[in-house]
Amino acid sequence: MTRRSIGIIVNGVTGRMGYRQHLVRSLLALREQGGLELGDGTRIWPEPILVGRDETRLRAVAERHGLTDWTTDLAAALARDDAEIYFDAQVTQQREKAIRQAIDAGKHIYTEKPLAESSAAAWELVRAADAAGIRTGVVQDKLFLPGLRKLKRLIDGGFFGRILSVRGEFGYWVFEGDWQPAQRPSWNYRAEDGGGIVMDMFPHWQYVLEELFAPVRAVTCVAATHVPQRVDEAGRPYPATADDAAYGIFELDGGIVAALNSSWATRVHRDELVEFHVDGTEGSAVAGLRRCRVQHRAVTPKPVWNPDLPATEDFRAQWTEVPDNEEFDNGFKVQWEAFLRHVVTGSPFTWDFLAGARGVQLAELGLRSAREGRRVEVPELSR
Ligand SMILES: NC(=O)c1ccc[n+]([C@@H]2O[C@H](COP(=O)([O-])OP(=O)(O)OC[C@H]3O[C@@H](n4cnc5c(N)ncnc54)[C@H](O)[C@@H]3O)[C@@H](O)[C@H]2O)c1
Repeated sequence: MTRRSIGIIVNGVTGRMGYRQHLVRSLLALREQGGLELGDGTRIWPEPILVGRDETRLRAVAERHGLTDWTTDLAAALARDDAEIYFDAQVTQQREKAIRQAIDAGKHIYTEKPLAESSAAAWELVRAADAAGIRTGVVQDKLFLPGLRKLKRLIDGGFFGRILSVRGEFGYWVFEGDWQPAQRPSWNYRAEDGGGIVMDMFPHWQYVLEELFAPVRAVTCVAATHVPQRVDEAGRPYPATADDAAYGIFELDGGIVAALNSSWATRVHRDELVEFHVDGTEGSAVAGLRRCRVQHRAVTPKPVWNPDLPATEDFRAQWTEVPDNEEFDNGFKVQWEAFLRHVVTGSPFTWDFLAGARGVQLAELGLRSAREGRRVEVPELSR
């Protein structure tokens, strides 16, 4: 067995995503399992190079995990020959500049979504990466959620017949930060700092809809800032200038209509924080983060509308749980494994900068729809 070490610059490693999902649950988890086996006797061994702004916090992260390679100097990290991959989990606003530097340094690049803050900037990154001949990837973690994997299995198996519609609910109450600390960083609620739920969630909806159902051809969106004032990490009140809820209708190829609500200002009365309800001519399914339940045409009951009587049926009990039938690993880690294989062996990897640019495009057009109060068509984005 030969070990193939690969230096990975992890920028933004003190953040929520950078630390938990990418460093701990992906890269360090890969090391704990002995590296990533390629099947030819080689094991890829990630060597994280931690990059951030705050020396004390970086050192603390490194020491907690027995790591020694960290720096606050991104340019110095990018100048290293043993650093083959640049990974970005910084706040969105800092991403474009750092990715440009990484392209100039000839690194392969993997990044959190959204790829950039505007379609034009995302497209420029696609072009620059293509010109530099580097390999790129953008996080599309929702595709690897057990609930959505089971939903995809149903689709591939023809369970639904013709798919008619998708209704999605994503959201939970994000505390304002006054009497209980907010559970998301405050930049998310400031437009001037790259926040907003449309820019945060529409990139996810774009790849979920396209990969599971069909490409999105038009979007109609109402965006709202329901909670106008919040309190930041330092206890200071600030005006919430970004949208904290988005009510979107997406028209897909084949006449499929997807209506997806995203909100940080709703209290959960659901089984999971995100749920997609899919209706088809032959059957329906409700898929969440982990679970997926179905109801086939043959066993669909016949409810009759009668507001004079209390509900007589237990509607939830009329659905059947889809079994796992396989082990589902952490989705971030699964995608990291695919990207590392892609970098080392050239194996196919479809979630590249162009895929990421499509997510930014949908977010931008969703915001335009909300601003102008109209339906907006989504042009095909291709090289
Ligand atoms: N894939 C997903 O499900 C998912 C979920 C949440 C967030 N994200 C994305 O991950 C990225 C990071 O989000 P997060 O929730 O981890 O944020 P966070 O605020 O917890 O972390 C941000 C990181 O960026 C660093 N940073 C660099 N420059 C900064 C600056 N000028 N101001 C503030 N921080 C700066 C911080 O030090 C920190 O390490 C965002 O782009 C976000 O869109 C993805």
